[in-house]
Amino acid sequence: MLGASTSLPANVDSIGTLVGVDEEPKDFGFDRASLKAAGFEGKAGQTLVVPRTSGPPLVAVGIGERGKLDPGKLRDAAAAFARAVGQQARVAIRLPDTGTVPPAVAAQTITEGVLLARYRYRPYKRTAVQEPPLEGLTLVTSPENLEEVEQGVVLGGVTARVAGLARDLANAPASLLTASRMAEVAEVLAKSSGLEVEVFDGEALSELGCGGLLGVNAGSAEPPRMIKLTYRPKGNRGKAVEPVGRIALIGKGIMFDAGGLGLKPNDLVHATMKGDMSGAGAILAAMTALSQLGCKAEVTAYLMCTDNMPSGTAMRLGDVLTVRGGKTVEVINTDAEGRLVMADGLVLATEQSPRPDAIVDIATLTGACQRALGVRSAGVIGNHQALVEQVKASGERTGDTVWQLPLDQSYRAELESDIADMKNVGGDNAGAITAALFLEEFVDGVPWAHIDMAGTARAESDSGWRSKGATGYGARLLLDFLMGFTPPTASRH
Ligand code: BES
Ligand code: ZN
Ligand code: MN
Repeated sequence: MLGASTSLPANVDSIGTLVGVDEEPKDFGFDRASLKAAGFEGKAGQTLVVPRTSGPPLVAVGIGERGKLDPGKLRDAAAAFARAVGQQARVAIRLPDTGTVPPAVAAQTITEGVLLARYRYRPYKRTAVQEPPLEGLTLVTSPENLEEVEQGVVLGGVTARVAGLARDLANAPASLLTASRMAEVAEVLAKSSGLEVEVFDGEALSELGCGGLLGVNAGSAEPPRMIKLTYRPKGNRGKAVEPVGRIALIGKGIMFDAGGLGLKPNDLVHATMKGDMSGAGAILAAMTALSQLGCKAEVTAYLMCTDNMPSGTAMRLGDVLTVRGGKTVEVINTDAEGRLVMADGLVLATEQSPRPDAIVDIATLTGACQRALGVRSAGVIGNHQALVEQVKASGERTGDTVWQLPLDQSYRAELESDIADMKNVGGDNAGAITAALFLEEFVDGVPWAHIDMAGTARAESDSGWRSKGATGYGARLLLDFLMGFTPPTASRH
């Protein structure tokens, strides 16, 4: 269904052409004045569908100034095209000139933009499905660029599949995607994508002393699961090779966040709390592509899965939990559950031998981060600047952008508890930072970056390549990060 070609394939339903401002696309048979009269100037986000008496419609796709094109603009332009022809199943795009963007990168981002914009979660739409799914996408290019464009299309197909999988997991209703179901899904995916998988149930978790995950699970009728995934790079004939570095990932897998005994209100916003496992989903999705793409780093992941429910057995306010490794936490807010489950995973990561070169955690952790940064960029906070820079660079390349917040030690005192080693929340301000300071207690000095994706996990409406609902944020970011990983050498700040 995905491909590149030097000529227009037969049987396409529409043909897009990227048109910059002040450009006169020859294939349209119109001059600029008539395109402008129809409301099309070539600005980014504009599209103009031109029907013809014979042949599929032509679509002018605005890209702004061609000289200022970048991968992000191409991804969004492709998404605008895909939405403009939302009723069509087989589409083609011409890319004769991608400005300063290399053809392979252009092809990858265009493929991502089209596929992600056309994503729909529809397993439960049984009647009245209006939009046909996309069946074919062909990028039409010059013979010189064909090979590069072909490679880009394949890579874009992989990254869009990965983000689509992360979306599927986050869009799935919580009664269906329970922690134990998530583990089954992970087992199936691990098998088909060359990953080792180990699943820890409640008993195994209590043997490990994972009091954070178990504490959050206490109110739930659904059992908890910790899913450990491992990817080891392989050389010729499947032989193990020395990795370029070792990374541990920890994902928040709250299958539904009801708030615990501090119950969240019954409203539309909280119907989105089925997506509180988006961090875990992004990790699982990204890891399914590591073997296919030949990642050279070793990756271990801990997906910390449970829901956070109120019941007679739920953790109470003032309870003290003992996290893996022995630190104690006084629970003063049952809705600050993410950090409790993450703590166990962080400690397990630091105990690996050899120690990981870096730990990256990703979580829909705080509403405070969403209020600070909005829905476009996630927050990133870390104890090691070179590692944070790697995460930022991956964010820029993938459009899953991050914005750094400070790990400001002056707020650490807010976590002091009268009766335990710490409380699970700080004061009213700087909630994203105090959450990170809580997590830092468990990383034991290993280079660490924390991604708070509370704001970026969902889109309230279709917008560019983000389709309404779960965005799949983090899956492409993590995949890019893992593929390019080298152990950070710069000193801690
Ligand atoms: N899962 C929420 C955070 C969240 C908010 C995710 C909005 C996605 C969108 C988290 O568990 C939570 O409830 N956080 C509390 C923390 C507070 C009690 C310190 C919050 O942000 O209000
Ligand atoms: Zn939560
Ligand atoms: Mn919560």
